[in-house]
Amino acid sequence: MFEKVTAAPADPILGLTDTFRNDPRAHKINLGVGIYKDEAGQTPVLRCVKKAEARLVAEQTTKNYLSIEGVHAYADVVQKLLFGDNAAIINEQRARTAQSPGGTGALRIAGEFIARQLDTNTIWISNPTWANHRAVFTASGLEVKEYGYYDADAKDLDFDAMLADLAQAKAGDVVLLHGCCHNPTGIDPTPAQWDQLAKLSAEKGWLPLFDFAYQGFGKGIDEDAYGLRVFAEHNKELLIASSFSKNFGMYNERVGAFTLVAKDADTANTSFSQVKSIIRAIYSNPPAHGANVIAMIAEDKELYADWLVELAEMRERIQEMRTLFVEKLASRGVSRDFSFIARQNGMFSFSGLTKEQVARLNDEFAIYIVGSGRISVAGITKNNIDALCDGIAAVI
Ligand code: LMR
Repeated sequence: MFEKVTAAPADPILGLTDTFRNDPRAHKINLGVGIYKDEAGQTPVLRCVKKAEARLVAEQTTKNYLSIEGVHAYADVVQKLLFGDNAAIINEQRARTAQSPGGTGALRIAGEFIARQLDTNTIWISNPTWANHRAVFTASGLEVKEYGYYDADAKDLDFDAMLADLAQAKAGDVVLLHGCCHNPTGIDPTPAQWDQLAKLSAEKGWLPLFDFAYQGFGKGIDEDAYGLRVFAEHNKELLIASSFSKNFGMYNERVGAFTLVAKDADTANTSFSQVKSIIRAIYSNPPAHGANVIAMIAEDKELYADWLVELAEMRERIQEMRTLFVEKLASRGVSRDFSFIARQNGMFSFSGLTKEQVARLNDEFAIYIVGSGRISVAGITKNNIDALCDGIAAVI
């Protein structure tokens, strides 16, 4: 039977990591997948995570199943980070959160909930967006439509195109927004643009779905939540898929969350019962380790303060690499203006490199970049930046 199965294309991001692993060239550089590297080129376990893990292992008494929605203390942490301490949504119990296997798991739960429980079958995603969005929502049976987002000439948000395309969204349609550090462009709406979008969403009756995977990598925990929180002020219903892979450096623990906000606590509970049925039929209940670690860090003043320091270290190192990257390209006589890279937020930079240039960087310089030209700036270090800039200067 299996001989009829045809090969699937390699994943544009994780497939690149596989090819990178098998590349024998010692000087290879992987700026494909969004993984933070420190100055030594390592992806370390955060110090606060190490401490919490040691404590957790010592104190743990059981490996019993979690409930379908996961660790409850973790859900509280998720909501506080999303909406802020003492947020009305939390006090009014309008939000329910389920722990999920990564942000991707949360997006898939969202897709299933929309497809099975809501009247719409349409989700709007930005063009461009994270390479996996379309696949996740298509797998749930949703019709995926795109709204304009990126102005390739200005290297900025094309807000007019975004508004023009979203004018076609019908009441009840789902609109996916990146909470901060838009992947792949690194360009977010300004606070004034977020205000406008949030009001428009409420007026038009869209259902906003936030993909929030980089909180703290842009400007800070609260600053990066501006868009989500202003939407929460104006919209009674929201869905959020969030992830701690990046900001806690816990990539392989798959610590994500699906959060549903309804107009009141009763409606939230009823809707959440359907979310639990969806989860039960996919993976039953989530793994415990990562969520327990994060709950422990958030509940301990000292560990939490340590986490904020380490998060700032990561954010500032990326920012430093952005500035250095722009300077080093200019110092190689590259005449194209790359200063936009220093203005972008988060891990990624949409470099404007063409598919051909990306292929040459790979073939001739062992530099791995996603085909769209997206560079993971979080993978640039003082040790690899010269080789990277030499390669880019040579191909453009
Ligand atoms: C990325 O965009 O590189 C990350 O979100 C990792 C992934 O799963 O694609």
